[in-house]
Amino acid sequence: MIKISPSLLSADFTRLGEDIESVKSAGYLHFDVMDGIFVPNISVGLPVLEAVRRVTDAVLDAHLMIVEPVRYAGRFVRAGADIVAFHIEADSRDGISGAIDDVLRLGGRPGLAIKPATPPESVAPYIDKLGMVVVMAVEPGYSGQKFMPEALSKLRALRAMIDARNPGCELEVDGGINAETAKLCVEAGARVLVSGSDLFSAPDRAARIRRLRGESAP
Ligand code: DX5
Ligand code: ZN
Repeated sequence: MIKISPSLLSADFTRLGEDIESVKSAGYLHFDVMDGIFVPNISVGLPVLEAVRRVTDAVLDAHLMIVEPVRYAGRFVRAGADIVAFHIEADSRDGISGAIDDVLRLGGRPGLAIKPATPPESVAPYIDKLGMVVVMAVEPGYSGQKFMPEALSKLRALRAMIDARNPGCELEVDGGINAETAKLCVEAGARVLVSGSDLFSAPDRAARIRRLRGESAP
């Protein structure tokens, strides 16, 4: 089944609990962490993730857009994230391997995210240990951007790599997802779709989740 991971970046932070409740049927929650260095923006961090964990049973899917993620990856598992994904561009090979091992040691699922300019083959050295690969279909840093169709061929390449080497690994696409781009991404092999602005702007969010999953007509 197709999973939707609502991006809390598009939620109303003054009513976060209610917004989390409104997207409950998705089963996942996407939590974007930005450090102002890897990306220009600063978003939210550990104390907010801990608070979110207290009010939801959803699979908490943290997306760290920070430099040297090995400094924090383990702390996000301890704070309650189920999946901790970080960027392959954010450190050396040793640093990335160290972050993956920290997440595994603490019982979390490590994920690797790749920016639009990063080739899918760059994930190959790590694929055996990963619980998720995240293909960015926009430049990380902001919600509400337009989907880049170049992501589709990367999804196809990663679907083949995952099926051959680690079928339990999830393939997520992040950025610019709406009903139309969701369909293209699923056809290309994505099984988890992050949705921020499109989902949180919908008057009926449960209906929008069904629509993004391809379960209902427009
Ligand atoms: C962008 C974030 C995304 C973003 C998605 O840097 O990683 O998760 O919130 O938002 P939409 O769905 O509006 O593109
Ligand atoms: Zn994200």
